[in-house]
Amino acid sequence: MVTLNINGRDLQVDADPATPILWALRDNLDMTGTKFGCGAALCGACTVHLDGNPIRACVTPIGSAQGMKITTIEAMESDKVGKAVQDAWVKHDVPQCGYCQSGQVMSAVALLRTNKRPNDADIDNAMSGNICRCGTYQRIRAAIKDAAQ
Ligand code: FES
Repeated sequence: MVTLNINGRDLQVDADPATPILWALRDNLDMTGTKFGCGAALCGACTVHLDGNPIRACVTPIGSAQGMKITTIEAMESDKVGKAVQDAWVKHDVPQCGYCQSGQVMSAVALLRTNKRPNDADIDNAMSGNICRCGTYQRIRAAIKDAAQ
């Protein structure tokens, strides 16, 4: 049994400490907003925050997250920055297929927490680990700038 602090709540997870956070969220806790894309830290679909920093949940074991704060896409609606980003995502009609977008939002929120006025280079640098096969990058960039207002 591993205790994880997720979105401000301590939750018990009956899984091996080596289990990736992604699978504890999806399979043990039925929190399916975080997506599986590559399973190899290459696409960013599984991005969550660990103590505020964006990490790849598919390769981060739950045992390494004990005593830390995990934040997922499910908490973004009630988060000031998260809500601003999600509203901008809707306004700019960012998603196409939508699969990668929860990871995109988590990376965008992490960027805006540390840089309130990111320029194009800042955005490209922060978002470069989040792959979108629909190519929504221009709308993502516009939405991040809008959310930063
Ligand atoms: Fe984790 Fe692709 S599923 S980076």
